[in-house]
Parts: sequence; structure tokens; C-alpha cells
Amino acid sequence: MAAKTIYILNGPNLNLLGMREPEIYGSETLDEIAGQAEDHAQTLGFDVDIRQSNHEGHLIDWLHEAAAEKAHAVILNAGALTHTSIALYDAIKAIDTPVIEVHLSNPAAREAFRHKSFIAPVAKGTICGFGAFGYQLALDAASKF
Ligand code: DQA
Repeated sequence: MAAKTIYILNGPNLNLLGMREPEIYGSETLDEIAGQAEDHAQTLGFDVDIRQSNHEGHLIDWLHEAAAEKAHAVILNAGALTHTSIALYDAIKAIDTPVIEVHLSNPAAREAFRHKSFIAPVAKGTICGFGAFGYQLALDAASKF
């Protein structure tokens, strides 16, 4: 049987990882993080489908797709849309697929506008503050569902 797929969806500005505020987000690029996630998922017996978009609608379409494709889980770093997007809240609520919220930084320790998450109330759980390693932690968590 083919391995089950975990979608790893990344939102606005995460294509700039590596050069974007490395003191906050680390020096690894999204490609490097994707490579590590692929390797780690393989050891857990999963395939990963890793995507990034600067557009809210793409993330919504991909959440719907993950559900239609019966993905095992979605790992979602929605970037700043975390703090603004009722549409992402609705999309996650509308699907059965478990969604794990991930952030490289710890938004609770940053500006007040980052303290609100529209993802957290509809996520299975949240992993934040551990940099790129958070994606591997999220894969570990998803592998236990
Ligand atoms: C982020 C945290 C968000 O507040 C910010 O807007 C991002 C990245 C993180 O991974 O730490 O773009 O999601």
C-alpha cells in the first residue's frame, strides 16, 4: 500500500526563509526545511507534499484538496495569515483532516498582534518556538494519530 501523505503548507513570506530576519526565523531556507521534512517523514513511513504560497486562497484550496485526497494530516504555518484569516479558520473547521499549527518563532513572546491565532482553536495542536525543528516535531505528532 502507498504511504499516506502529510501536507506541509506554508503561507506568506515563508519563501524568503534564510534571508528573512534570520535572528527570528533562523538561517535555513524553505528548501532545506523541506528536505529535512522529507527525510524525517520517510523514517516515519509517510510521504510529504510541501507547498508555499503568498496567497490566502491557495492555502484554502490546498486544505480542501488535502481533505479530498484523504491526507493523513496537514502541517500548516500560515505566517501572518494566522493572525488575520477567518477564511482559514473556516476552511480548517470545514474539513475532517487534522491540522497541526506550526510557527518557527514563538508568537506569544512577540508583538501583541501576533498573540491572536485564528488557527489555534481549530487546530489539533500547535508547535512553536523551536525553529525549523518544529516541522519535524509536527511530523512526529502526526505520525501518532
Ligand atoms: C510565523 C509567525 C508569524 O507571526 C509571522 O507573521 C510569520 C512567521 C513563524 O513561523 O514564526 O510570517 O508564522
